[in-house]
Amino acid sequence: MGTKRHFRVWRGDSAGGDIEDFDVEVNEGEVVLDIIHRLQATQTPDLACRWNCKAGKCGSCSMEINGKPRLGCMTRMSTFEEDETVTITPLRTFPVIRDLVTDVSFNYDKARETPAFAPPPGVAPGDYRMQQVDVERSQEFRKCIECFLCQNTCHVVRDHEENKAAFSGPRYFIRAAELDMHPLDDRTDRKEYAQSHQGMGLCNITKCCTEVCPEHIKITDNAIIPMKERVVDRRYDPLVWLGRKIFRRDQLDGDGENMAPSSSVGVTDVAKGAPFTTNRGPEGPEVREDGRMDVTEVTLPTQGGPSPFGDQQFPLPSGRVAYQPPAPQYGVHDDGQDGDHGTDGHHQGH
Ligand code: SF4
Ligand code: SF4
Ligand code: FES
Repeated sequence: MGTKRHFRVWRGDSAGGDIEDFDVEVNEGEVVLDIIHRLQATQTPDLACRWNCKAGKCGSCSMEINGKPRLGCMTRMSTFEEDETVTITPLRTFPVIRDLVTDVSFNYDKARETPAFAPPPGVAPGDYRMQQVDVERSQEFRKCIECFLCQNTCHVVRDHEENKAAFSGPRYFIRAAELDMHPLDDRTDRKEYAQSHQGMGLCNITKCCTEVCPEHIKITDNAIIPMKERVVDRRYDPLVWLGRKIFRRDQLDGDGENMAPSSSVGVTDVAKGAPFTTNRGPEGPEVREDGRMDVTEVTLPTQGGPSPFGDQQFPLPSGRVAYQPPAPQYGVHDDGQDGDHGTDGHHQGH
């Protein structure tokens, strides 16, 4: 036999809305998504909410529960006090479509902007084999279910629509790191690209993204920090600077022929016996004639703010919940065309 519990659910659309109160039956073992389904079945048949798997694997049911970005299907009702009011609001970083459904196409635009996997020319899929040792570092990032909770949490874009054009967000920093660590990826500029084009310089390592990741991916420690450190190493390491002064480029970098990728021990059967060519070019940005290097990271105008947690009191006063962000500006690409803001088939469900 269940108990009656008090729920507050934000309802509305892009024109605005408000929090509505409900008393709903809750049974042992249920999760927040169960309660939303019961609301749909008994009181609010038109309450909009995305979900697909109810197993924490599709990444569809992202929402904010008592102000914290969570998956509805993985948040057990037993984690709340018996008499605690549970407030459910849509993801705050993305424009609301209706009720708990937001338009997350910002993330798909950023996915398109991320440079794709770039294997060496002449190596076709199936022509190479990788061993576990080659994929261990980047395998963690493949667990991402694209729930976008990390994107929603990051203070760089949460409540800062103006930063979206310049910031890809933590989900795409781990994608960049994953490809950078891939032994067959031929691009050598992923770290610099992340810094200069994907806005990694705006990240001040608050670790809020790591805190909310339902897959427990160590976004900051294992992806962002190594990427940032290696950009800094290349730019500011005095030995690298000295080496470049003393040796010629060809003495430092080799000609690329038969150079193994970072952990070549696992790469076998490359292109049916053809020599492996990485075509890796000179590493990192140049030291200028005056011996100095660009300091893009430390001169960026936007400073990090406080953690998004702790700035909310629950239940929310309804006046504070007004989801009317400005029209997205981030979808304009280099070719001047607007991005595709249509819904993506990955996150469908009601
Ligand atoms: S560490 Fe903080 S600033 Fe950096 S991406 Fe994660 S949430 Fe954003
Ligand atoms: S990194 Fe984690 S929080 Fe971010 S989209 Fe992937 S699974 Fe979700
Ligand atoms: S329904 Fe929650 S992650 Fe799939």
